[in-house]
Amino acid sequence: MFDIPFLDLPPLRGASGTVRLPGSKSISNRVLLLAGLAEGTTVVHDLLDSDDTRVMLDALRALGCGLEREGPTLRVTGLGGRLQVHDAKLFLGNAGTAMRPLTAALAVLAATQGGRFELSGVPRMHERPIRDLVAALRPLGCTIDELGEPGYPPLRVSGAPGSRLATAQPIRVRGDVSSQFLTALLLALPLVTDERAIVIEVDGELISKPYVEITINLLGRFGIDVRRDGWQRFTLPRHSRYRSPGAIHVEADASSASYFVALGAIAAHGGAPVRIEGVGSDSIQGDIRFVDAARAMGAQVDSGPGWIEVRRGRWPLQGIAIDALEIPDAAMTLAAMALYAGGPTRITGIASWRVKETDRIAAMSTELRKLGAAVVEGPDFIEVAPPQRWTPAALHTYDDHRMAMCLSLAAFNPLAGAAPPCPVRILDPKCVAKTFPDYFEALLGLAAADPADIPVITIDGPTASGKGTLAAAVAERLGYHLLDSGALYRATGLAAQWDGVAPDDEAGLARLAGVLDLRFGHGPEGSRTWLRGREVSTELRLESAGQLASRVSALPAVRAALTGLQLAFRRAPGLVADGRDMGTAIFPTAPLKVYLTASAAERAERRHKQFISKGISSNIADLRADLEARDARDSSRSVSPLRPAEDALLLDNSQLSIDESVAWVLAWWARRSPFVRAVAPTAA
Ligand code: DC
Repeated sequence: MFDIPFLDLPPLRGASGTVRLPGSKSISNRVLLLAGLAEGTTVVHDLLDSDDTRVMLDALRALGCGLEREGPTLRVTGLGGRLQVHDAKLFLGNAGTAMRPLTAALAVLAATQGGRFELSGVPRMHERPIRDLVAALRPLGCTIDELGEPGYPPLRVSGAPGSRLATAQPIRVRGDVSSQFLTALLLALPLVTDERAIVIEVDGELISKPYVEITINLLGRFGIDVRRDGWQRFTLPRHSRYRSPGAIHVEADASSASYFVALGAIAAHGGAPVRIEGVGSDSIQGDIRFVDAARAMGAQVDSGPGWIEVRRGRWPLQGIAIDALEIPDAAMTLAAMALYAGGPTRITGIASWRVKETDRIAAMSTELRKLGAAVVEGPDFIEVAPPQRWTPAALHTYDDHRMAMCLSLAAFNPLAGAAPPCPVRILDPKCVAKTFPDYFEALLGLAAADPADIPVITIDGPTASGKGTLAAAVAERLGYHLLDSGALYRATGLAAQWDGVAPDDEAGLARLAGVLDLRFGHGPEGSRTWLRGREVSTELRLESAGQLASRVSALPAVRAALTGLQLAFRRAPGLVADGRDMGTAIFPTAPLKVYLTASAAERAERRHKQFISKGISSNIADLRADLEARDARDSSRSVSPLRPAEDALLLDNSQLSIDESVAWVLAWWARRSPFVRAVAPTAA
């Protein structure tokens, strides 16, 4: 998860492999609400864990639903249609799939059983219209107060117990702004069908029908049999009652699948396909029809129940004209695919983009233009012509997960002949957490990059200069991988001890180093290391392990045996490598090389403090003597001696805090970045 201000994607050149997608947001939140309202307990499998589902879960908990996690499943014990809590304030973030249905459900429950509920969200939620839903509910007798702008959340719904709702006449709702208003009514009104069947009639052309189909399908699973006449009239039978289906599986998100379908169409060339698991030809989600649009642009797609495989077919992709009324969310991905087409792509029927997480037509136009595309936008359409000349761009994501995921596809620009290939900066990448918290990990897990395109920052320096801490902090800030090369030498020494290989047996040590079974991970206390499956985090940091590493690292065959392993750390999005010879021998072409120093006195002092904090007694003079001996050995050996690379920047951190050192390195890095011009305001 990249909780960082920006993520720089290097130019990417191919993709293949399998991705298992997280659960659908639309299905997850509908299932949660239905399970929360139903009688009995529902075991929900494969629920999406994201911002939007979290706010729904918080709301259900506040309303008194039972929620128990059991490993990957969630047991929801519903209210059985009876309010347990009559007064609550619910914060619903930016989740339309929570705001709209909860407003409707709580409005009718408060009106009939008595209660008072406030529903609010983030500022953007308060700009997303809800007027048409309010207008549909008020004639029933629901009391709804708009606490901010009329027609927008926050809202208060309230009522006294015992009221009857006026359900004899058909309930009218507009269908041409958001289908979520109809969905909200369909999900809420079965609660009040005791006296008669309820008819809902849609005014205007219903948009996003596939989402309404999901609603009807899931209502069926919970025992409500909606009768539908065309897309204009829906009837909820009298005595409708939510019944838990016992267990329910959430299928993977078809909208999330669109990024990987696009990935296959753009980048799965010449080898294995991109395989998507968790959603397939049997999907109940409308966005699965995105696959047809992708095919029209040139994707070669095979699919079956629960899986989709995509390869590049036609190249460049074919520009298309498409009415995307039915696949509004996934259609954003077509706008990104349009960057790789031979001609313009025109997407119409997308007025709803303007009232989503952001004004997606405006946002997409602005950001695609930054990359070099020619974009024409209108009230309900966008037309994108591919860049003639690609430009490295820092792309805003507007707190909109789909903007971030779509724009990441621009990193494949080398495949469109971008010369030079451009890195792409995604600002605020963590907004993908709304529906797909591990999106970038999944993308980069499939993507292939030319190692020469992957940025490396090397941080070399003597023992106890603080380079490990500095490297870890810089890597974290940039979302880059980390290579602690010293750990490889330390682990080689440790493995030698375990196997009884002498510290001067060069061939024996090199053999061990060549098959080092070392694994790195993260825990709450920082980085952790396993050697041959055994955790050695503490053992490796011992002074004795450092001394031994210093000895074995002087042997040329050992260094050679560890070279390939170190080079393999150069993976997208980038690498921060610390050691002695990162800038001189292993990554000589690294675009930023830092050589960290501190006086021996200062380093001995720091080591001493470190030992005290671990409760180990030590003597500063001895520590200093050890450090100096190790420096001397590391600097005087014949292969890869410790010395700054010619082009390294020296950082003496004797007087600097860790944060100050990090700030120096990040400032140097920013100066190397092609995005500086793109982000910094232009001087007058
Ligand atoms: O950085 P460290 O203290 O974990 O390194 C332990 C020893 O490993 C160090 O004294 C020299 C050796 N080493 C090396 O030779 N080359 C590297 N790139 C990293 C460490």
